[in-house]
Amino acid sequence: MLEMSTLRSDKEVEAIMRMSERTIEALGFTEHSRRHSSIVSKWSGELLRALGKDEERVRLAEIAGYLHDIGNCINRQDHAMSGAVLAYSIVTRLGLSLEQATEVMAAIGNHDEQFGLPVSDISAALILADKADVHKSRVKKNIENVLRANIHDRVNLAAERSYLSADKENATITLFIEIDTAICSVMDYFEIYFARMRLCRRAAEFLGCKFSLVINGTSLV
Ligand SMILES: [Fe+2]
Ligand SMILES: [Fe+2]
Repeated sequence: MLEMSTLRSDKEVEAIMRMSERTIEALGFTEHSRRHSSIVSKWSGELLRALGKDEERVRLAEIAGYLHDIGNCINRQDHAMSGAVLAYSIVTRLGLSLEQATEVMAAIGNHDEQFGLPVSDISAALILADKADVHKSRVKKNIENVLRANIHDRVNLAAERSYLSADKENATITLFIEIDTAICSVMDYFEIYFARMRLCRRAAEFLGCKFSLVINGTSLV
């Protein structure tokens, strides 16, 4: 099976990741794609492992997680679709079987909340891990005045910490978020993340679990 270190150090993957980072930067974000990709890769794998999936499913989820945003190197718009096709050719070249490669492709092609749907356990794990990564570093640059920042930036700026936890016994997947309510209210958060949370709920249900959202220690769904 493809090792994550082989994937990460592949020259084509490195070049594509660098260009994705430049595209995101040109859009004005401070986000570093490799930070986000590594976290989503790790969380996707951990989620499936916690739910008792075998190591092959775990590794495929890690691979899909690492590559899920590479479509940004072409254009932010439709990056899920373009990234899926790019990833398919990379992972077949790196030795995945055609079946394994289609799993990675379908998961990446379905990770965006606009057109995405959980279509497999790998895809469901990727959706949850991606939407769970709310982080300060994903905020547009040069925000001199927090109050003037748009709601999207405020939500990310307010996020101190977020993490996912899967409880197999109680069939529950919980997203914990700690936000600084001086910057963004819980209502702001909901306004921005409603579509994402709905997709997370569907993804958790696909995995046979309930979805629970805990913000600042209070359970909201
Ligand atoms: Fe994405
Ligand atoms: Fe992402």
